[in-house]
Amino acid sequence: MRKAWFADEITEEVAPLLPGFGVEVVAEIDSTNTELMRRARHGTTAPVLLVAERQTAGRGRLGRPWQSAQQTSQPASLTFSLGLPLTPRDWSGLSLAVGVSVADSLDPAQTAGLRLKWPNDLWVDDRKLGGILIETALPQADAAQRYLVIGIGLNLGPREAEGLSTPPAWIGEWRPEATAGELLRALVPPLVGTVQAFAERGFAPFAERFAMRDALRGRDVQLSDGTAGRCDGVGWGGELRVHTAAGMQTISSSEVSVRPVRAPI
Ligand code: BTN
Repeated sequence: MRKAWFADEITEEVAPLLPGFGVEVVAEIDSTNTELMRRARHGTTAPVLLVAERQTAGRGRLGRPWQSAQQTSQPASLTFSLGLPLTPRDWSGLSLAVGVSVADSLDPAQTAGLRLKWPNDLWVDDRKLGGILIETALPQADAAQRYLVIGIGLNLGPREAEGLSTPPAWIGEWRPEATAGELLRALVPPLVGTVQAFAERGFAPFAERFAMRDALRGRDVQLSDGTAGRCDGVGWGGELRVHTAAGMQTISSSEVSVRPVRAPI
């Protein structure tokens, strides 16, 4: 199983950056994020990439379930979590920097139209391709360093629209030949580099690349907290900027969701 996922190759590339790093591939688990958070709470904080061929209780942001696409002979979703101890100066904008890294790995020439929707979605033509779920655990109450878990779920094949207003996008639309293992191998080493650069310098060095893929900038948006206005992109700390009737509002809470308002036909 490890071979199809390029586990040895990924380990070889990442271990020099993250000593002690290992790759684990499991056929089935409830959720790769839940598992790494469980381990961290029990004091297991080694850097690890946990890949699941199937999740039975995948989780998204705001307590939503993450549904994987229906499995055929190939995994129809790519689901994995990267866990590592981290002490950034500031956590703001981490999911945006992760999104930039994932988007640049999947669509380096920006020909697939892969966009980032604040704060954690990957979109193609306003259809959701995938999402990022970031969580942290304090291994012990007095621990100086938090354990970071970055969960990423991407549609490889088509899936039902269950609960979504538009059918999801999938990677096979523009990379039909790419296997899940090849994609994982392309994604993970740059992702580790991104997380380490973020820990040193925060979101600001990623802001320009985010802006180039920003799915909301210049569009009318509606927020779950009732705010409505024209999105003015994101600030240097990764906060969403919305020009409202009451002036410019900045939103940094990850508890808020935002959607573009489609012009009435
Ligand atoms: C979202 O869209 O709100 C985030 C989705 C994140 C899904 C991934 S799949 C791997 C990891 N394990 C989970 O349970 N969730 C993340």
